[in-house]
Amino acid sequence: MGSDCPYGACDGTGMIVDVEANTTYRCRCWPQRVARKRSRRLAREIPRRFQNLSFEREPIPSIARTAPDVVRAVRRYCDRIDEMLDRGIGMWFLGSSGTGKSHLAYLVSQQALAAGRSVAIYTGPELLNAIRRTYDEEEPGATQELLDRLTTVELLQIEDLAVARPNDWVLEQLYNVINGRYANERAIVFTCDLTGDDPDGTPTPDRLARHISRRNFSRLMEICGDPHVLMGPDNRIVAPREHDALV
Ligand SMILES: Nc1ncnc2c1ncn2[C@@H]1O[C@H](COP(=O)(O)OP(=O)(O)O)[C@@H](O)[C@H]1O
Ligand SMILES: [Mg+2]
Repeated sequence: MGSDCPYGACDGTGMIVDVEANTTYRCRCWPQRVARKRSRRLAREIPRRFQNLSFEREPIPSIARTAPDVVRAVRRYCDRIDEMLDRGIGMWFLGSSGTGKSHLAYLVSQQALAAGRSVAIYTGPELLNAIRRTYDEEEPGATQELLDRLTTVELLQIEDLAVARPNDWVLEQLYNVINGRYANERAIVFTCDLTGDDPDGTPTPDRLARHISRRNFSRLMEICGDPHVLMGPDNRIVAPREHDALV
């Protein structure tokens, strides 16, 4: 059967013709096909730095040395990516800056894309800007159309979700996206580097809850479960030493 069907069941059209019963019905891949089509206008580019990630290639093995449990959890998630996305189960990475959160989040998105799933990738500010821009479009319903796409794409990755100074408008837009995905049982993978108020700077989920409001936070928790915490020195600052050695 068609190679374009992930289940090898239809000819790539999403429909199966049952000649004997003289009828057609939707293939198992139909919902994925619809989601992919609707996601076409969403941002889904993996930036150059985060392309071709693999568990075997740096910096993932280094991250696995500093945070073995987190990388093990990512591997388990990636091994069952279809099931996770079908069940709308996500992941979140919380911790200080330069500890590998984005690399792990992009690794998940990359696995989803490789599995033929629709993925959208935004930073927190980009997501809000994309919504804001629809207000200027002539087309009536542009905002709703974008929200529909954002809430049905099979995986939404949000980088640095804890945007600066969230006002009421921002919180409402976050709610529309997060609650929409929650209602549709769609997965979210996000990173967040809010560190706590306590002197040692340990990131606390509570800090995010206060920042993005309880109703957004509780839905995210239900989609993503407990945070995967990455702490330690900022490897972006450590890295320049290697940079100096090269030039
Ligand atoms: N545990 C680690 N060991 C070595 N290098 C790391 C580690 N974590 C991150 N890096 C490096 O630090 C930089 C920042 O990684 P990134 O995933 O963008 O961090 P974050 O999203 O947590 O700020 C990258 O250059 C990456 O290669
Ligand atoms: Mg990051």
